[in-house]
Amino acid sequence: DEVSLQGFDHYMLKEIYEQPEALRNAMRGRLDEENATAVFGGLNLTPQQLRSVERIILTGCGTSWHSALVGEYLIEELARIPVSVEYASELRYRNPPIENNTLVFGITQSGETADTLAALRETKRKGHRTLAICNVVGSSIAQAADGGVYLHAGPEIGVASTKAYTSQCCILTMLALYFGRLRHLSYEGGQRIIQELYGIPGAVQEALNCNERVKEVANKYQDATNVLYLGRQYNFPTALEGALKLKEISYIHAEGYPAAEMKHGPIALVDTKTPSVFIVPQGSTYDKVMANMEEVKARGGPIIAVATKEDPMVDAVADDVIRIPDVPSILQPIVSVVPLQLLSYHFALLRGCDVDKPRNLAKSVTVE
Ligand code: AGP
Repeated sequence: DEVSLQGFDHYMLKEIYEQPEALRNAMRGRLDEENATAVFGGLNLTPQQLRSVERIILTGCGTSWHSALVGEYLIEELARIPVSVEYASELRYRNPPIENNTLVFGITQSGETADTLAALRETKRKGHRTLAICNVVGSSIAQAADGGVYLHAGPEIGVASTKAYTSQCCILTMLALYFGRLRHLSYEGGQRIIQELYGIPGAVQEALNCNERVKEVANKYQDATNVLYLGRQYNFPTALEGALKLKEISYIHAEGYPAAEMKHGPIALVDTKTPSVFIVPQGSTYDKVMANMEEVKARGGPIIAVATKEDPMVDAVADDVIRIPDVPSILQPIVSVVPLQLLSYHFALLRGCDVDKPRNLAKSVTVE
């Protein structure tokens, strides 16, 4: 154990720090600059079959379901293919109408999650093509699917998924690029995304520099019993993921919401003891999220903001700011989740929780 921890106190922390390398591995050999697209060896479908896809279903559980939400935004924006995101545990027992030419992706770190496996088998039985986005080579889901893409993130041992999540987001970005280039996305558009992807491991490396700052923030709010996570567009799934990370390893109740949805109920939770974590990097909804932040501040709620390092406005509203590098909106999920992973880690440590093996949880849920 000592050897594989490589000097880190916990697997979760080690895996958080492995993310730049995991992202490089996810991209290795898969970006084709000449054709401004991505390449995947294992889809087992011809470009013609992939071009005729009319709908994509992304399914998974927990953190993998969160990356599916990121995938929905990406594929719809870059490839203009309608996407549905389904909890695998619901999809397996529901009987939704699924059109011909629908492609079903099961997203899973372990490849052994019972509900994801069953959902893929059920859709396959009905005649739809199934693909896996999976980390564990040769796992049950990798075998059951018609084809797929491996994350190559290396073993993830901490129960809280970290590097698998960011690798899933990276694979989904490359898939969106690939589907986009089979359809409407221009050569220049594809080139731009490739260059932006190349910058992502470095941006995550830089985001990791916030660790000391995050520790201070966790220290300040360690007695909180409720935390809200709020973000919009590409940062809405990040809010859900930040809240899940906090719940599972620190046992602090947390809720993730699209920031503007807060007014429809969750804002009633805001009081001086309930911190709100706003994910507010630069982008088209920046002003809107800042306005949502003002609303929480006006009600006396403490505010922790995850903002880009060049943002001069956020200090005037937030009580505590955690800085991350600025990246294009489509890639923000990969970078903005890093401080939230660290925040849950430090909260859990301060509260004496078993970070790598939280109570009641298993690394992979192989039973219903
Ligand atoms: C993540 O932190 C969780 N432990 C959990 O939600 C997990 O993502 C879920 O059980 C799905 O697992 P999978 O990716 O191995 O299918």
